[in-house]
Amino acid sequence: MITSKDLRKKYLEFFQKKGHALIPSASLIPENDPSTLFISAGMQPLVPNLLGEKHPQGTRLVNAQKCIRTIDIDEVGDKYHHTFFEMLGHWSLGDYFKDEAIKMSYEFLTEELKLDINKLAFTVFAGNNNAPKDEVAATAWKNLGVAEDRIAYLPKKENWWEPAGSSGPCGPSTEMFYWTDTSTDAPQKFDPEDKRWVEIGNDVLMGYEKIGENKYAEAKQKNIDNGTGLERTLAVLNGLDDDYQTDLFLPLIEKIEKLSNKTYNDDEDITRSMRIIADHLKAATFMSADGLAPSNLDAGYILRRLIRRAIRYGKTIGINKPFCFKIAEIVIKEYKDAYPELKKNKDLIIEQLVAEEEKFSKTLEKGLREFAKLKTVSGKDAFVLFSTYGFPFEMTQELAKEKNITVDQESFEKEFAKHQELSRTATAGKFKGGLADDSVQTTRLHTAAHLLLAALRQILGDHVFQKGSNITPERLRLEFSHSEKLTSEQKQQVEDLINEQIQKNIPVKYEEISLEQAKKDNAMGIFDSKYGEKVKVYTIKGFSKEICGGPHVENIGELGKFSIKKEQSSSAGIRRIKAILS
Ligand code: SER
Repeated sequence: MITSKDLRKKYLEFFQKKGHALIPSASLIPENDPSTLFISAGMQPLVPNLLGEKHPQGTRLVNAQKCIRTIDIDEVGDKYHHTFFEMLGHWSLGDYFKDEAIKMSYEFLTEELKLDINKLAFTVFAGNNNAPKDEVAATAWKNLGVAEDRIAYLPKKENWWEPAGSSGPCGPSTEMFYWTDTSTDAPQKFDPEDKRWVEIGNDVLMGYEKIGENKYAEAKQKNIDNGTGLERTLAVLNGLDDDYQTDLFLPLIEKIEKLSNKTYNDDEDITRSMRIIADHLKAATFMSADGLAPSNLDAGYILRRLIRRAIRYGKTIGINKPFCFKIAEIVIKEYKDAYPELKKNKDLIIEQLVAEEEKFSKTLEKGLREFAKLKTVSGKDAFVLFSTYGFPFEMTQELAKEKNITVDQESFEKEFAKHQELSRTATAGKFKGGLADDSVQTTRLHTAAHLLLAALRQILGDHVFQKGSNITPERLRLEFSHSEKLTSEQKQQVEDLINEQIQKNIPVKYEEISLEQAKKDNAMGIFDSKYGEKVKVYTIKGFSKEICGGPHVENIGELGKFSIKKEQSSSAGIRRIKAILS
């Protein structure tokens, strides 16, 4: 029996002993990559470094990275699909290459984990027009004592790794497999089609760079990118064929059993529901810890979908009381040592889940009754279920599938687009609504609100986002995500930081760019409201960058002295500050 804590520790310590610097897991929300909503592999935040940018911690790195794969949402429910998972990874950034990487992986498996060499097998790249058969990798395994029969040569589909999109570091991979059937010895000849061989590690030998669809160039810097899925590997090492029976899920499953008064193994539907609930709420807890809030847009929408789907499945197994936060509490307890942000943001996570569940529980029952009346589901029906009862479109699709009927997706999308047009028009008028007038005072206070948001993020952390604002000629009011009362010290720090900036007489610059670009530039925005394609971005150099439509002063030197008058709770997980300029 090996626990998840042991396995994580063994991996991180082993590669640290081999000279790799331990780096923290990046946030699940990509910081400089607008092309994806979530981090889905350990290498993703390191792409610039894999392409040659120097990493401050050197050329050998190791970590355990939180990952979300949204493509797997519908697959969750079987034994080994997850939306949230951890990837143990280590990297050589132009440091060692194939031989040494393979030697290290082998040593980790056979000496650190003490796996029986007779139960191991390996795949290498078979070669194609872009890159030759990987004899170097095969020879490296053989030199360590691996039998020729235990090495399989596979095509690009299996043994080539590249990131989604048209560019990025890539190359052939070599994967490590473990024989899981304890009732019989591993066959001499490795057959990768035999499902009893399970992957427990993957070294991507990044000798290439993708420069277009199906176009590759030799990489200037050759890297190693190892990814080892913690959940699966843990199950395999413990002789389990169900990831949900490992200690990464068991406490959650046990709680769900108690809440529903059902047993995990009672029947297939119950097992599936329990897995979905455990997976989705674990993912939701981690997303919330990284500052994401449920919404109808982008990543926030995925979070909403996960929570609401978990709630619906909870209902199917007889959980009729609010329960999401109870599962989150266990996730936090189990993972807090490896991911301290869970503990730090506990109140915010819990409050957010409670609020979302409260909101959805009110309409779920009614929506399900409406749905039951339908014989076919038109786009309009799906839209009503979405807008009135809060059913994510995918949930309606899933319900329809259970009834063997289809949903007209195209006409749903048309309805949705119509609705978006309306709310965009509403947003255009929003700044008039948020501001009492365009007076000089209001303009000054509005600009100060930008400084305040930036200062709060610096002092309190990146989980702070603007949730609302209201400006009159007398004072500014800002609502923001944060769950604890600010200490007087924090308030002082915020004030000092802002007044320091004002002293610097920084000009307020603005540019009109695409929303895409704005996100790429890390501009702050209220992303659950609808922006047009082009947005105005206001920059106070070195301090703040925000998407905004309001009036601003030309230079923050005009603002005078900033002081906080009041700091209080606004609603669950949201604080409110009132401040003035004098
Ligand atoms: N990039 C590889 C993967 O995602 C290994 O880290 O599997």
